[in-house]
Amino acid sequence: MLRSTFIFHFMSKQTSKDIILGLSTVLFMLRIGHRGAKAYAPENTLSSFRKALEIGVDAVELDVRRTKDNQLIVIHDADVKRTTDGKGLVNELTLDEIKGFNTEADEKIPTLQEALDFLDKKVKVLIELKEAGTEEAVLSIVRERGLEKNVVIVSFLEDALRKVRELDKDIDTGLIYAKHRNPVNAAVELKANYLLALYRFTHSANVKKAHENGLKLIVWTVNTPQEVEEYVKKGVDGIASDKPDILMAF
Ligand code: G3P
Ligand code: CA
Repeated sequence: MLRSTFIFHFMSKQTSKDIILGLSTVLFMLRIGHRGAKAYAPENTLSSFRKALEIGVDAVELDVRRTKDNQLIVIHDADVKRTTDGKGLVNELTLDEIKGFNTEADEKIPTLQEALDFLDKKVKVLIELKEAGTEEAVLSIVRERGLEKNVVIVSFLEDALRKVRELDKDIDTGLIYAKHRNPVNAAVELKANYLLALYRFTHSANVKKAHENGLKLIVWTVNTPQEVEEYVKKGVDGIASDKPDILMAF
């Protein structure tokens, strides 16, 4: 269904109050490719990002870690084993050593610079800090490319987000959580802009509370069309999916 067709369809089923909520949801919901398009290409690779762009996402999410020689690379796990033919911990390997490994599609793991050069300003980029101590280097790579308005720095690590905010009062940040006693308070205290919630614990009341506190709420990782529709109706501001094509109807 086209975006505009869905808006009509969505509006026709709602009360006037819901129309306003639904309309803003549908019009502004970020369609995010999780680790690129993880279901269709090896995660966190340039081919995964290319696939997400071909699908037409509004944003790409990627994960960042630091090598032994302090280079930032795009990889989810602390260990290279699951996603490459190499072995060892990222923080015990140099960039050269890691570049010697291949992913499933015979690709190299990208550095953060390579990933951002590729994505550039084509889409928003959610950069997840997987470890503390990377904040300054990530910000400097973002600034060198003039991408400050194109990125959201996100993390489970509250100290890392606090540091990012100390270093940059304007850049968008987002607190990721699965279970958290009071995520809204934590995000407000961190002066974050987004909450990124594990989708299955997220209800309309959570969305409302986030909005009342000036936060946008993104859910991850939603991989069926039925659930996408459900979360659109809950009024979320963004959905991250391994299969971002299922977001394109919205
Ligand atoms: O964007 C949030 C989500 O990516 C966090 O989970 O494990 O996929 O990095 P994970
Ligand atoms: Ca992630």
